[in-house]
Formats: sequence, structure tokens, C-alpha cells
Amino acid sequence: MKKGLILLLLSVLLLFINSDNKKDDLTLFLEVNNILYDNIFPYFQYQNFSYQDYYDIEEIRNTLNCSHLMAINKFKYQDTHPAVMRNTYLILVNKQFYLEKRYQVHNLVNPSDYGAEIVNEDILLPQEVLLAYLQMISSLNLNNICLFSGYRTYEKQEVLYNYYQDDNYSAKPGHSEHHTGLAIDISRRDIGLTEHFANTKEYQILIKNCHKFGFILRYPKGKENETGYLYEPWHFRYVGIKHATYIMKNQYTLERYLFENFEI
Ligand code: DAL
Ligand code: ZN
Repeated sequence: MKKGLILLLLSVLLLFINSDNKKDDLTLFLEVNNILYDNIFPYFQYQNFSYQDYYDIEEIRNTLNCSHLMAINKFKYQDTHPAVMRNTYLILVNKQFYLEKRYQVHNLVNPSDYGAEIVNEDILLPQEVLLAYLQMISSLNLNNICLFSGYRTYEKQEVLYNYYQDDNYSAKPGHSEHHTGLAIDISRRDIGLTEHFANTKEYQILIKNCHKFGFILRYPKGKENETGYLYEPWHFRYVGIKHATYIMKNQYTLERYLFENFEI
């Protein structure tokens, strides 16, 4: 009994010494580098912040004029990296974040079996994305809208990328979010995947309402520096209603939404 009490007291003492040491390290770091506690304090609410990286992260924050969390995330992901937010509708795939060749998408179905207008027979989509799409098309009376592409394999992206040979239009294999199954290319059959789609009334209806069905416009005009791609009025991405509503109402890109709101 007595022994137990002594052990307990010793552990509490050790914990106390440890936490005191940590505090000392930080205090020393702030003093040596002449950093005001008030300046570094906003970072401490995020678990992925290490105070040793303070200067590099602050430089990013000042250059981009962005939030503290976005600066931490930007610092963390500076090279290419496996896709983040996996197993969620927010999975991020772009020029920086990639999926492996073996990545699998489940529950793929053929949209024409569900009555969707398609331009070719080999389009596939996860059932839940297709159902959200069909609901959007019928609720908004967009009877002229067709599916041009959905889920894409690594091999198919290789063919497309070799054809376009232009990083502004086509993603490198592994770097296309069509691999996730959550991206759709849609337009009017008579207009196709061209910028002219942006001048149609169907596009205006989609932009105003797509979030209600869980979709966002993935590559908006003027956001090329955030997404890495030129404006694509035909490329929509399923993220779910809650996230889509925030993104579309605030005119965000998926990149900015994730970097500003999640410790990714
Ligand atoms: N056109 C889009 C960026 C892709 O190839 O995934
Ligand atoms: Zn696309």
C-alpha cells in the first residue's frame, strides 16, 4: 500500500518534471529567437504544428496572406504526396496529391442502366454519385445534359495524357481526380466539353444549384493558381451536400477549403 503510494507520487513528479522541461524548451526557443508569444499562440490550437517550424510557416502565411492552419498544411505538403482525406468524399487528388495505380473504387455502375444520358457506353460511376447526379438533373429539369465521363482508370488516364501532352488540360496518370470516381464531366451534347458550355442556361442553373445535390464546380475561372488547372465549366465533383454548400457559397476551391479547415 505504502509502496504503491510512493510509486504514484514518483510518477506524478516525473510527469511534472517532463512538462516543465517542455515548457522550458519552448520558452527558450521564443527567447533565443525573439518571438512574441502572442504571435505564435494562434498556432498552438493545431496538433500538426511544431514550434521549430515557426519561421518557415510564418513565411508561407505572409507570402500567401492565408490562415494559420493553411500555412501549416502548406508547409507540411510541399512535394508530391499520396492523396489525403482518403475514405471520405473530400479526398484530394491534384497535381500534388496522387492515387496509386492499384487504387480501387467500389460500387461502380453503368449510368445508362439507370436512365442517364451518356455519350459513350464505357462510362462508370459509383452508385451513390450517380444517384445524386440523376436527382440533380431531374430536379433542375436539365434534360439536355449528358454525361461525358466519370470514373477513369490509371491506364485510361495514361492514354489521355499521352494524347493531350499538356498539364493545363490533362492530369498525369495517378493525378486525375477522375480516378476517385467522384468527378463527372457533363455538358450539352451539342456543345461538348468546351468553354461555350459556360454561356448556356443549363450551366447557370447548375452553378446556382449543384451544391444542393452535393456537387461543386471543381476548376472555377480565375482559380488556376489554387487548383492547378484552367477553367473547366464541365467538370463537377461530388463532395456531399454540407461541404459543397460551403464551397460554392464562399466561392472556394476544394484545395482552399481543405487547407483552411482541416488538419490534413
Ligand atoms: N481535366 C482534368 C484536370 C483531368 O484530367 O483530370
Ligand atoms: Zn473532368
